[in-house]
Amino acid sequence: MPTSMRRITQDSPGGPEVLHVVDAPVPEPIPTEIRVRVTAAGVNPVDTKVRAGGAGLAAAGGDMTAPPFTVGWDVAGVVDAVGMGVTRFAVGDRVFGMPWFPREAGGYGEYVTAPSRHFAHIPDGVDDVTAAATPLAALTAWQIVVDAADVQRDQRVLVHAAGGGVGHLAVQIAKTRGAYVVGTASAAKHADLAALGLDEAVDHHTQDVARATGDIDVAVDLTEVNGPSSLAVMRPGGLLVCVPSGVPEGLTEQAHAEGKRVTDFLVEPDGVALTGIARLIAEGALTVRIAGTFPLEDAASAHRELEKGSTFGKLVLTV
Ligand SMILES: NC(=O)c1ccc[n+]([C@@H]2O[C@H](COP(=O)([O-])OP(=O)(O)OC[C@H]3O[C@@H](n4cnc5c(N)ncnc54)[C@H](OP(=O)(O)O)[C@@H]3O)[C@@H](O)[C@H]2O)c1
Repeated sequence: MPTSMRRITQDSPGGPEVLHVVDAPVPEPIPTEIRVRVTAAGVNPVDTKVRAGGAGLAAAGGDMTAPPFTVGWDVAGVVDAVGMGVTRFAVGDRVFGMPWFPREAGGYGEYVTAPSRHFAHIPDGVDDVTAAATPLAALTAWQIVVDAADVQRDQRVLVHAAGGGVGHLAVQIAKTRGAYVVGTASAAKHADLAALGLDEAVDHHTQDVARATGDIDVAVDLTEVNGPSSLAVMRPGGLLVCVPSGVPEGLTEQAHAEGKRVTDFLVEPDGVALTGIARLIAEGALTVRIAGTFPLEDAASAHRELEKGSTFGKLVLTV
C-alpha cells in the first residue's frame, strides 16, 4: 500500500495555470469513512470558480476554500480501506460520490476518504468516466426536480442551459417524472437533446423565451441571467429555482407579488439519492453525456475547456 499519492493543488487563487501536481500523504479513514482509490474525477464549474477565488462558496462558507486547496468533488473509484462501523461497502467495491461538498474533498487526487454515506455503488456496465461525471450534476438535477420542486406528471418544466452538465440530466430526470420539458440551448444541441427526451427546445441566441413558451410550473435557471424572464413565463404558484448564485436582488419580492415562488439552491452529498440516480442509469433512463476527458496532470486544460462555457455534457479527469 503506497503511503504517498499525487494530487492537484494550488497555492493561490488564479487562472488554470495555478493548478499543479504535488505529493501528499495517503489519508486514513476514521470510523464510518471509506477510502477510495480514485480512477476518474469529474470537473464542474464550481471547481473553476473556487480555483479562481472562491466565488459563491467563499460567500457561503468564509475561508472554507482558502488556498492551499485541492478542488474537485466528483470521484469514481474502488474502495481500498473501510473504517469501523461501515456496513454498505467492502474493499474492492466500485463506488462514486460527491463527498464533503462544499468543504474540501480533494477530488483531484489519487485517494479520498469520506463518510461512506456520501457514496453509492457504481452499477454494473457503467464505466468509471461516466460514474465520475455523474454525482454533482445529477444530484443537483435530482435535488431540484425531485426534492425541491417535487415535479409531477404533466407539469411543465423549463430548464435554462439544458445542454450543460446539470441541464441535460435535469431534462431527463424531469422526463422520468412524466413532465413536459422545455429547454434553452444553442440550435446545434437541439437534436441530441430531443433524443434525450426534451419536448421543446428554445435557441437562446435567436429566440425570446418569454414569447417562445409559457404556463411553466417549475423553472430551473442554470445561467444566472434568466431569473426575470423565467418568472414571466410561469404560472401562479410556480417555483423558480435560481441555481448558480442564489436569487437575484428584488426577484423574491417580484415573485411574491405575482403569486409565484422562488428559491436558491445548493447541492448536498446524498448517497441515497445517488443510489436512485444509479438505478436510472442502469435502467437506461438517464444518459450522462461525456464531452471530453483529460489526464489528472492536465486539469488546467480541462478548466480552460469548461470555461469556454459551451460544453455539452461533462468533462472528466482520468487518474
Ligand atoms: N447551486 C448548486 O448547487 C449548483 C450545482 C451545480 C451547478 N451549479 C451552477 O450551475 C451552472 C451550470 O452548471 P453546469 O455544470 O450545467 O455548467 P456547464 O456544463 O458549464 O454549462 C454549460 C452550458 O450552459 C449553456 N448556456 C450558457 N449560457 C446560456 C444561456 N444564456 N442560456 C441557455 N444556455 C446557456 C451552454 O449552452 P450553449 O453553448 O448552447 O449556449 C452550455 O451547454 C454553473 O454556474 C454551476 O456553477 C450550481
